[in-house]
Amino acid sequence: MMRASYSSHVAMPFMLALGAVLVPAVNAQSPGFFSAAQAERGAVLYAAQCAGCHGGDLGGGNRSPALTGDRFWVKWDNQIARKLYSVIITTMPANDPGNLSELEVSDALAFILRENGIPAGDKGIVQAKELNAIVLHRP
Ligand code: HEC
Repeated sequence: MMRASYSSHVAMPFMLALGAVLVPAVNAQSPGFFSAAQAERGAVLYAAQCAGCHGGDLGGGNRSPALTGDRFWVKWDNQIARKLYSVIITTMPANDPGNLSELEVSDALAFILRENGIPAGDKGIVQAKELNAIVLHRP
C-alpha cells in the first residue's frame, strides 16, 4: 500500500513533464497539422490559380520556381511553416498578389505540403498563427 502510493506520486509529475517535452517535438515533425479536406480544396485552387505558372505537377515553369523536390526543400527544410504561408499570402498569385483569403492560403499550403509527401491529419489549420509552431521537414 505504502509502496503503491509512493510510486504513483513519483510517476505523475514525471509523466506530465514528459508530455510537456513531447508535444512540441511532435509538432516539429510537421505531419498531421493540415486536413485532407484542406489539401483537396487546395488542389482545386491550385489548378485554377497557380498551375499556370508553377506547373500542374508543381514542377515549376517559365520563370516560376518548382514547389516540390530539391528546389523547394533547399529553401523550406527546417523553416517555420508560417513563413511559407506569409510568402503565399503576400506575394501569390504573382499576377494578382494579396487576393487570396486566409482560408485559401491555408488550403494552398496544405495542398503543396501534401504533394511534397507530408501526410494530412485529422485537424485542419484554423488560424495562421498555429503555423508558427510548425517546423517543416523534408519527408
Ligand atoms: C503569374 C505566375 C504565378 C502565379 C499565377 C503563381 N505564382 Fe507562385 N511564384 C511565381 C514566381 C515568379 C515566384 C518566384 C518569386 C520570387 O522568388 O521572387 C513564385 C514563388 C512562389 C512561392 C515561393 C517558392 C519558393 O520556394 O521560394 C510559392 C510558395 C508560390 N509561388 C505559391 C504559389 C501559389 C500557391 C499560387 C496560386 C495561389 C501561385 N504561386 C501562383 C509565379 C506565380
